[in-house]
Amino acid sequence: MPSIKRIDHLAIVVEDLDAASTFYRDQLGLHIEKVQHVEQEAVTVAFLDVGGSHIELLQPSTPDSGVAKYLAKRGGGMHHLCFEVDDIDAMLEKLYAGGVRLINPEAIEGDGGRRYAFIHPESTFGVLIELYQYPG
Ligand code: CO
Repeated sequence: MPSIKRIDHLAIVVEDLDAASTFYRDQLGLHIEKVQHVEQEAVTVAFLDVGGSHIELLQPSTPDSGVAKYLAKRGGGMHHLCFEVDDIDAMLEKLYAGGVRLINPEAIEGDGGRRYAFIHPESTFGVLIELYQYPG
């Protein structure tokens, strides 16, 4: 039986990454680990450490990406919640069998050998959920 291990990150979509990073760093005192452009998702991301979990601040890098459309439609705010799982393939299979609406029925290969997939908010009571599996 596949299981969730921890909250890996919470992603917040923002219009101005510099302004948002400054707030989280200077007002909340969080450490910015890195800022990275993720071509695959058309976003620039600032990773902030919160005791081993992360807050990811996302700024869309093109006007037509999913994240950009979300920002235009709903404004800045919470975008998704990500759980680390021990077996993403088994988890997706289990969810699919349970009638859960999956945005990615198959895991996507991310950087560093990480694999991820999204569950549609329609099935999760309103929150976009990402599943993540680390290699090894
Ligand atoms: Co994410």
